[in-house]
Amino acid sequence: MSTHPSQIAAATTPERLPLTLPRLAEMKRRGEPIVMVTAYDFPSARAVEAAGVDVVLVGDSGAMTVLGHPSTVPVTLDELLVLAKAVRRGLRTPLLVGDLPFGSYEVSDEQAIASAVRFVKEAGCDAVKLEGGGPAAAARARAIIGAGIPVMGHVGLTPQSATALGGYRAQGRSAQDAARIAAQALALQAAGCFSIVFEAIPSQVAEELMTRIEIPVIGIGAGPATDGQVLVFHDLLGIREGLGARFVKRYADLQEAMVAGVAAFAADVRSGAYPEPRHGYSIDREQLRDFRQRLT
Ligand code: KIV
Repeated sequence: MSTHPSQIAAATTPERLPLTLPRLAEMKRRGEPIVMVTAYDFPSARAVEAAGVDVVLVGDSGAMTVLGHPSTVPVTLDELLVLAKAVRRGLRTPLLVGDLPFGSYEVSDEQAIASAVRFVKEAGCDAVKLEGGGPAAAARARAIIGAGIPVMGHVGLTPQSATALGGYRAQGRSAQDAARIAAQALALQAAGCFSIVFEAIPSQVAEELMTRIEIPVIGIGAGPATDGQVLVFHDLLGIREGLGARFVKRYADLQEAMVAGVAAFAADVRSGAYPEPRHGYSIDREQLRDFRQRLT
């Protein structure tokens, strides 16, 4: 289905109000689809703001998309804070969520609260996200919420623990594993999370869970039944080599466009076609004569 120009205009009108948590819950109640994307810097923040998305995640996927790591595990809280601050400068209306990276919340409730506070205080995030829904993760979520910071949960394929989950593969494909994910989602809801991400779980499992979850659920590879969908900025715009996971839909091929643009510049420099006179500055003839005399 193509987008009508009026929808684009509505998404970008200056009157669009900042998205609040009550408004997010209202979107779920009304069955209004929630759009979430990741962003990692000022230009991506400006793009998602102009496109009118609802929620922006400074994801630990930035470890791979912008820092070049092979997984999300190595990225540090300090690194993600630099990205989150840049995103904050470019955003006005979407809800901004900072993704707690591996190692920044597992040790204790105190560590989890301290890391979450940094996302809010230093980077201006509205909320944080953490992965997993086992007893420890639910306890961390409860502790952070108790400190006054809203938490988004994340169950199913949780990339920070991909090794323990048997690799980057769909979860919940057996009754037992689906029941494990259901218990985790309910535990996160009971802990007070304002929303949960379901990643890479069977569509039918997500659909069953939707009848039991009262908070907004954002899916990625979880089928159409969830309240909203999230994709990684670089995946949806094709700023990457290779195709990515099955759930990725590519809406542009910016990697190809970037390579073509830089290659055209390189060709122009090598052939002398760039710069042209219009790309340079001039000096008054009198001033030039004077300058030459000063050189002698
Ligand atoms: O880090 C990330 O990009 C994420 C999304 C896939 C939800 O956690």
